[in-house]
Amino acid sequence: MIDFSSFHKLSYGLYLICSEFEGNKSGYAGNTGFQVTASPSVIAVSCNKDNYTCETIQKSKKFSLSVLQKELDVAIVGDFGFKSSADFDKFEKHEYKIGELGIPVVTDSCIAALECEVINEVDCGSHILFIGEVKVAEKLNDNPPLTYDYYHQHYKMLAPKNAPTYIDPEKLIEETADEKKSEDSANKEAAEHVCIICGYTYDPAIGEPSMGIPPGTPFEDLPEEFICPICSAGKDYFKEV
Ligand SMILES: Cc1cc2nc3c(=O)[nH]c(=O)nc-3n(C[C@H](O)[C@H](O)[C@H](O)COP(=O)(O)O)c2cc1C
Repeated sequence: MIDFSSFHKLSYGLYLICSEFEGNKSGYAGNTGFQVTASPSVIAVSCNKDNYTCETIQKSKKFSLSVLQKELDVAIVGDFGFKSSADFDKFEKHEYKIGELGIPVVTDSCIAALECEVINEVDCGSHILFIGEVKVAEKLNDNPPLTYDYYHQHYKMLAPKNAPTYIDPEKLIEETADEKKSEDSANKEAAEHVCIICGYTYDPAIGEPSMGIPPGTPFEDLPEEFICPICSAGKDYFKEV
């Protein structure tokens, strides 16, 4: 028997894994990154085959892994974790440098960065496990790292289908809704709405200052072209909680 709730007891960090091939830069947010051996220093990342970055790593045989810090603007996770490098330039608004291996290394909101050469890849069905020997490692600062648990608990955000640890958001939101049912007021206008793609919550009491939406604007009054400020999902992807 498999009790899926036991998977929630596994702990992770959150990383930005990037690569570049023939001028095409790409990168994704991933929680599945870990050290495999100490000598030589080898790490592994599990990358979904549908990620644009998967192809880039396969072709370049190199990847960088930057460790995200605990306190950050979640827009960086929104950009790297919910959008595709195929149609969105993730490096335009986030600080990065070209590392010693000639690939992008994100430094924005990160505390350490590793650059690796792929020494093996294991086909795991939906994902490829890239095993990389660390050629360059750099500490950027002493801020504490972001843990996957803190990401869920503090930022209240989810992981999309491509993440190996994906949980059906509908299920999660139902649970949240059940928990809150008793304490929620019947006032529809004040109801919060959650983006089922990334977990962002629209709170009418706060509005969305980054988009010029003032406090006191009910979800229903948002323009039809409103999109999630984190993952760009349309209004239809929001559920009342
Ligand atoms: C919190 C979080 C954790 C994720 N973990 C992984 C992971 O470990 N492996 C993976 O392949 N995708 C993971 N993803 C999904 C990718 O970041 C996402 O599919 C991304 O849009 C791929 O970008 P790309 O197409 O530009 O490569 C995660 C996303 C989030 C938000």
